[in-house]
Amino acid sequence: MSVDTSGDYLSRVERAYQGEVYGEALYRGIAEALDDPERAEKWRVLAELEVVIKARMRDLVAKLGGDTAESEVFRQKGVNNVQKYVSLHWTDFMALYSKELVPVIARYGELEQLCAPEDAKTLRFLTEHEVVTKAFCDLELAGQPDISIAPTVALIAAMRAA
Ligand SMILES: [Fe+2]
Repeated sequence: MSVDTSGDYLSRVERAYQGEVYGEALYRGIAEALDDPERAEKWRVLAELEVVIKARMRDLVAKLGGDTAESEVFRQKGVNNVQKYVSLHWTDFMALYSKELVPVIARYGELEQLCAPEDAKTLRFLTEHEVVTKAFCDLELAGQPDISIAPTVALIAAMRAA
């Protein structure tokens, strides 16, 4: 592992933080737009995960001396993308979102490789939160909606306990 203290590392951490601002707005919007109450509740839990990881990332950005102000541009982008997903048939939505998370998980995995040891726990949670979100989509697709949100619930609990 090489520790990168350059601006590139900070800008990537800031970008990931704003990604959670985006995600929170998107997931809340999806929860509100869905007619099915069980599916809506699952997206509320996913939005809660976004809030928990966003707080962690905000602390990391602050520690690195970055800008912790939540981007209105990213928030609005989340709001604007709600219809793109909820207009799809549920399985198409789950398949698309699972696919879209693949490069994000890879990118955050790379970011973990750049970080100082003291930041590793936060960035592991960052990657892991996308992994459980993808697991949610994949379990929905696999016909296991009864357990699809369980990994997300477990990660929220683990992050709160950490
Ligand atoms: Fe997220």
